[in-house]
Amino acid sequence: MTDRVLLSSPDVGDLEESYVVEALRSGWVAPAGPAVDAFEREIAERCAVDHAVAVSSGTAALHLALIALGVGPGQLVAVPTLTFAATANAVAYTGAEPLFVDVDPQTGNLDPDLLAQACAEGGGRLAAVLPVDLFGRCADYDRLLPICHRHGIPIIEDAAEALGSTYRGRPAGSFGAAGVLSFNGNKIMTTSGGGMLLTDDGTIAKHCRYLATQARQPVPHYEHIDIGYNYRLSNLLAALGRAQLRRLDEMIGRRRALRDGYAKLFASIDGVTVLGADDPEANCWLTSIVVDGPRAGWHAADLAAHLAARNVETRPVFKPMHLQPVFAGARTVLSGAAQRLFANGLTLPSGSTLREPQVRKVFDSIMEFLETRR
Ligand SMILES: Cc1ncc(COP(=O)(O)O)c(C=O)c1O
Repeated sequence: MTDRVLLSSPDVGDLEESYVVEALRSGWVAPAGPAVDAFEREIAERCAVDHAVAVSSGTAALHLALIALGVGPGQLVAVPTLTFAATANAVAYTGAEPLFVDVDPQTGNLDPDLLAQACAEGGGRLAAVLPVDLFGRCADYDRLLPICHRHGIPIIEDAAEALGSTYRGRPAGSFGAAGVLSFNGNKIMTTSGGGMLLTDDGTIAKHCRYLATQARQPVPHYEHIDIGYNYRLSNLLAALGRAQLRRLDEMIGRRRALRDGYAKLFASIDGVTVLGADDPEANCWLTSIVVDGPRAGWHAADLAAHLAARNVETRPVFKPMHLQPVFAGARTVLSGAAQRLFANGLTLPSGSTLREPQVRKVFDSIMEFLETRR
C-alpha cells in the first residue's frame, strides 16, 4: 500500500471477490457465459436501453458502434476536441477522419453552436457525431439532438465516463443510435478492463455481437464473410461488473460528496470554478477546477506542484485532440475553449476509495496552498 493519494482508484472488495470466485467455480472461464448475459441485462435496465453488448473495452464498443453505423473511409465524424484519445482513435480505426469541434467553456462538453457549424461545413461527408459526456457530465442533448436530427446525422454517445449520470432524468448512454460505456480500472465502476455498447436498435446490437465474436457465421464449421474482432468481455470480468453495479450508487455518492467538498472549499476563492459543479445529475467521476490565473493570483500548475510535493496526485484536463501530433492536420471548428481548459484546468483526487484521512489530507493541503496565496 502507498500513502500517495490517487486520482481515481478501483473500488473493489469482498462482494467483488465473491462474484468472481463464483464465476470461476462455475466453469465459465471464457468470453461468454451466464455472468455476461446477466451483466448485459442489468446494464441495459440501468441505462434504460433495449440492448447492451458486453465487450473488452470502451474503445472496442466505440469501434463497433462506428462500423455498425456504416462509418468508413472518406467520411468525417464530429468529435469534441476535449476528450481522451480513445474517442478519436476509434474513428481512425474505421478509416474515417475525426473533425474536432470545440467545447462549451462552462462544461467542457461539445459546443452545440459549433457543432451546427461543423454539420453545415461537413456536408455529406459527416457520417456521425460522437459527443462525449466529459468527466461524467452529460452533454447538452436538448440542443445537440435537434441539430443532428435536422442534418440526418446519427449520434454515438461516448458515455465512457458517465455511467450513472442522467440528463433531465434520462440515463447517460441512451441518447444516441448507440452509446458506449467503459469499465476501465479508473472509471466510476470497473471490470479491470471492459466496456458496453448500448442501443435500442436490435439490428445494431446483433451486428455488434456478431462482429465482436470474430464474425463467425452460425454454422458448425468456421465460416466468415466479414472481418471480425475478438472484442467480447470475459465471463469472469462480467461477474466483477455485476458486483460493482450493485455498489454503483454508493460509489457515486462518495464522488458527489467529494465534489461538494471541493465546491465549498473553492466557493470563496476568486478566479476558481469547479467544472460542472452546477449539475446535480452528474456522476462526478472526476472533479476538475479551472483557474483564471490573473484573478486568482496563481495557476493550476502551482497547485499541482504543491499537491505533488505532498504525495497527492492531480492531472491536467485532457490535452485537446487537435493539439496532438498524431492528429495534426485534422479538420477543426474551434473557439479556443478546450485549449484554455487544458491550460487552466486541474483534475483533483475524486475516487470513491478515498476515506476521511485522505480527504482531509487533500483538503488541508489545498487550504495550506490557498493560505500562502492570500
Ligand atoms: C471519453 C472516453 N472515451 C473512451 C474511453 C475508452 O474506454 P476504454 O479504456 O475502456 O477503452 C475512455 C476511457 O478510457 C474515455 O474516457
